[in-house]
Amino acid sequence: MSTLIICGGAPGGLTAGVCGTIRDRLGGSAPVFYAGGYGHCTGCGSCASGGCVLDDGMDEVIDGFLSSDSIVLASPIRFSGPSSMLKTAMDRFQPLWYSRPEQGARRLFLLLTAGSDSPRTEYTEGIVRAFCASTGCAYSGCWLIPGTDRDDGAASADAVINDLVSSIQSPP
Ligand SMILES: Cc1cc2nc3c(=O)[nH]c(=O)nc-3n(C[C@H](O)[C@H](O)[C@H](O)COP(=O)(O)O)c2cc1C
Repeated sequence: MSTLIICGGAPGGLTAGVCGTIRDRLGGSAPVFYAGGYGHCTGCGSCASGGCVLDDGMDEVIDGFLSSDSIVLASPIRFSGPSSMLKTAMDRFQPLWYSRPEQGARRLFLLLTAGSDSPRTEYTEGIVRAFCASTGCAYSGCWLIPGTDRDDGAASADAVINDLVSSIQSPP
């Protein structure tokens, strides 16, 4: 079983810390890619018949995605949506929209952190469900760490991370 983690939080931030903990609890072998390092898809269409014109390492992320059974997309909620960093990386999966991977070949787990105790997750989930449909992933649900802007905000993180890791390790 192999897992790929794409982190939509900035390095050093809370979401990045959560991604590191998820990786460690999965045994340390799951790669964590930071979404902020990749350029924007311009919609040029080159990937319909060849490779992406941007040479920034996103190919490695897509190769890792295709060779994994489970994908974790992690993001802080920003204005009730995913971070722009995560959305930018998601747009770069356009080659898979053209190649249409087999449906259900891998499971996708969404991990969100949020400053509010009752954030709106539905917009991010809608975007991620659409991503799943285009990239052949089975959407496995959303794990939320709320209230992170409070002093004791990350108190629920441990239980949420444990539950997510045990879901990833459970058979589909
Ligand atoms: C630009 C911006 C927009 C945000 N919008 C929301 C929001 O709509 N709902 C919410 O609950 N928290 C919101 N937050 C708070 C973050 O989700 C929260 O602080 C998060 O845990 C930070 O994670 P990070 O350290 O990985 O960036 C926002 C934070 C920023 C910087």
